[in-house]
Amino acid sequence: MTKYLIRGGKELRGEVEISGAKNAAVAIIPATLLVSGTCRIENLPQISDVFMLLNILRLMGADVRTVNAHTVDIDCSRVTRTVADFDLMQRIRASYYLIGALLGRFGAATVAMPGGCNFGGVRPIDQHIKGFTAMGSQIGVRGGLVDARAKRGRLHGSVIYLDVVSVGATINLMLAAVLAEGRTVIENAAREPHIVDLANFLNSMGADVRGAGTNVIKIRGVSQLRGGFYSIIPDQIEAGTYLAAVAAAGGEVLIRNVIPKHLDCISGKLREMGVEVADGEDSVLVRRDGPLTRTNVKTMPYPGFPTDMQPQIAAVLAVAQGTSVITEGVWDNRYKYVGELTRMGASIQVDGRIAVIEGVRGLSGAKVNACDLRAGAAMVIAGLCAEGVTEIGHVGYIERGYEDIIGKLRNLGADIRAVEVPDDQEEEILEVI
Ligand code: EPU
Repeated sequence: MTKYLIRGGKELRGEVEISGAKNAAVAIIPATLLVSGTCRIENLPQISDVFMLLNILRLMGADVRTVNAHTVDIDCSRVTRTVADFDLMQRIRASYYLIGALLGRFGAATVAMPGGCNFGGVRPIDQHIKGFTAMGSQIGVRGGLVDARAKRGRLHGSVIYLDVVSVGATINLMLAAVLAEGRTVIENAAREPHIVDLANFLNSMGADVRGAGTNVIKIRGVSQLRGGFYSIIPDQIEAGTYLAAVAAAGGEVLIRNVIPKHLDCISGKLREMGVEVADGEDSVLVRRDGPLTRTNVKTMPYPGFPTDMQPQIAAVLAVAQGTSVITEGVWDNRYKYVGELTRMGASIQVDGRIAVIEGVRGLSGAKVNACDLRAGAAMVIAGLCAEGVTEIGHVGYIERGYEDIIGKLRNLGADIRAVEVPDDQEEEILEVI
């Protein structure tokens, strides 16, 4: 088992380069199924969710060639399988995008119910199913599998109103609609940057998608998409995580390869807390040398404060002066990590979707676990500012979404390393460092 060891208390200084956006990549890779020809995808993050999706495509018969560390050529022309690998699919939430893509291309899909981070109990897909049904498909869920068929062989356009603002449903319905017959309108659509990125990818391959980035997306089905080049946008949440890390640990870092506009909601909150954040053209400079002050945070769909930054901001607020309140506005239960932060000395009370954080003077290193991807990032941030050594287990979650987090933080002067621990020696690790 791999663990991360962090000796906290070092300020972060230097420059860090942000990778391509995970949540755009995990939508664009399945989208290549819709394309006749080769798609060259650039700025792909090197993270396990991406590797897994590429493997799923390979197993379905796609020709996936690595051009360099961050670029692949994907040609799905010869794919004929409409059934995706069950074991791989179960491990990744975004696997459900294969339903929309396969339905759009073949009018049929058999896909495992999605896995991924489990922080909200059952993560429903009723809005996806409602949309596919409105577009003329029949959906059955049996034995952990979703089986979808277009009744007339090809989907048709429809007007779909989403009852909740869902990133996943918006993306899945876009994928299903681009090759459907006629016009699809998605109302109350999500507006996240990765939705705009997917629309840009699809349009650059010949699709007709309008309105992405607003809450009404209109898609006119076309008969074919052709291959081309596309470069994925920088990861808003990875950038936000480094902003939060500098806020917690102190120091000064230039965060490069970002779209500062995507970070407004995060930068604004950090400024309220006494952190300096200066936007450049495609970078932000973050500096913190004074005390952190309390604030309140409510997570919301974009352009609100992202739920995927909620655990990381909680780790920063844990060491801010005063009492802060976080209201989780997207997921029912995204506070599983609070127990872990409490073991490091944080003072946090959770009631339903609300967490009240009494800032403490400092955290102390402890043995903790990453309970999901962003919770894991929060443990790293807490470890960076804690006194002593923090040992983080279950780091596979972190590696699902953060490219080379160890290398990037070490470059900034953090004392962090990954160690391989045989399962039977787990207990001894804190003594040997
Ligand atoms: N929801 C429904 N019915 C549905 C779909 C969603 O009720 O059919 C509810 C969910 O239960 C939740 C809310 O709607 O309360 C929002 O869910 P959404 O569908 O937007 O989430 P998602 O598509 O499953 C993506 C990201 C998550 C991120 C959420 C919210 C990907 C692969 N995942 O999930 O990212 O938290 O949007 O922004 O894009 C992460 O990167 O760490 C991560 C978990």
